[in-house]
Amino acid sequence: MFRLDWPKLEALWMKVSLGTMATFLVTIGVMAFGMDLHTADGRQTIDPTRVDETPPFDRPGLYRIGPDAYRAVVVARVFTFNPDHLVLPAGARIEFVMTSADVIHGVSIPGTNVNLMLIPGQVTTYATTFKRPGEYLLLCNEYCGIGHHLMMGRWTVVAEGGEPAWSASSTAPAGR
Ligand code: CUA
Repeated sequence: MFRLDWPKLEALWMKVSLGTMATFLVTIGVMAFGMDLHTADGRQTIDPTRVDETPPFDRPGLYRIGPDAYRAVVVARVFTFNPDHLVLPAGARIEFVMTSADVIHGVSIPGTNVNLMLIPGQVTTYATTFKRPGEYLLLCNEYCGIGHHLMMGRWTVVAEGGEPAWSASSTAPAGR
């Protein structure tokens, strides 16, 4: 009569389980330390109900912070980014400081590795230097409601030394 070797099967199953867990841990380790992917660090928090009064978010826009460095202050709320269009000079260091005034939004730029989460109550910062001029489309990639698919922005990178600018096409509500 055919008999299953239960101890052997159980040992095999334990090996598979442990192997799966080890794979997950290695994956997380590689992503966190090798690819520098991490969550918003939460070191900087903000009262999400007072975003419009809290610096720097009381004045969204693009500001020069050094000879070749700019800070972009962006507020996300259903279903806009404010400002939703930034003109950024190539070669300059751009520091993005972003938050959400309502629900979780995201910023992803197709074709790049930019993928940020904007969490109410937390300040997301991201610094980069664009090497070449071009047009970047920002998409909200966290489902945030009925207008989620309409929530987008544009970053135009102009030639080195070009004139930075910003605009908000849709006037975001000042209060809620
Ligand atoms: Cu904002 Cu989806």
